[in-house]
Amino acid sequence: MSAVANTKAITPPDIRSRKGGTPLVCLTAYTTPVARLVDPHCDVVLVGDSVGMVLHGLPSTLGVTLEMMIMHGKAVRRGLEQALMVVDMPFGSYEESPEQAFRNAARVMAETGCAAVKLEGGAAMAETIRFLANRGLPVMAHVGLTPQAVNSFGGYRVQGRGEDAERIRRDALAVAEAGAFAVVLEKVPEALARGITAEVAIPTIGIGASAACDGQILVVDDMLGLFGDFQPKFVKRYAELGQAAEAAIAAYAQEVRERMFPAAEHVFADPLKGAHATKSGEAA
Ligand code: KIV
Repeated sequence: MSAVANTKAITPPDIRSRKGGTPLVCLTAYTTPVARLVDPHCDVVLVGDSVGMVLHGLPSTLGVTLEMMIMHGKAVRRGLEQALMVVDMPFGSYEESPEQAFRNAARVMAETGCAAVKLEGGAAMAETIRFLANRGLPVMAHVGLTPQAVNSFGGYRVQGRGEDAERIRRDALAVAEAGAFAVVLEKVPEALARGITAEVAIPTIGIGASAACDGQILVVDDMLGLFGDFQPKFVKRYAELGQAAEAAIAAYAQEVRERMFPAAEHVFADPLKGAHATKSGEAA
């Protein structure tokens, strides 16, 4: 099923034109109910490949498949009305050649109804980004710490410190020049993020890259306190929903064991044998 174009929705050119303006608000979503929650507040909703770690319990994003991204993309599409939906290309689905990237990205767009894809990598991916962008396939780039390269980096370390800064700078310039409409800058020092943001023509969207960027993105489960004890320095927890959920589940367990739940108002009676009065007055 492909989604019908929504004329109210924010487009990649809209995002591109926000360079240097009011900061772009971006969050991830992987399900319809969360997409509904974030949509009115966000410019961009990313179906990130972080879904593999956050919802599927994988140890990294490397095991995420195209099918998983398409399934979650379809679910998110059903919950969005205005935000631009971007879907991450998973590891192994785009690096081989521009043609491979186009084939898989076109499938993601056709099957999920997203308006753009995101792929990781800088100068090495410039040719692929140009190939897609020139064929009507808008690309959000992702440089700095690119989690799919965790094995090459030897961990989820800050990138671009000292002499390494020049590598990240060149990556950002290369993807902008290749036609990406925005670039995610992940886990780089503030001074580097500020310099890149001043230099590239497209919006920079930071995650662990300071408020100097043109926008911010976080994994929604991280900022809601839903993803266990994972709390890297760059994540601010705006709520502790994990703790609230745990308390609710413990209360339920206790009430079931003590036969306090279900109570009279949750029970259906047989009218012929005498109905229970329910709180809502609903006929049992
Ligand atoms: O997969 C993801 O969630 C990302 C981040 C930039 C949030 O790529």
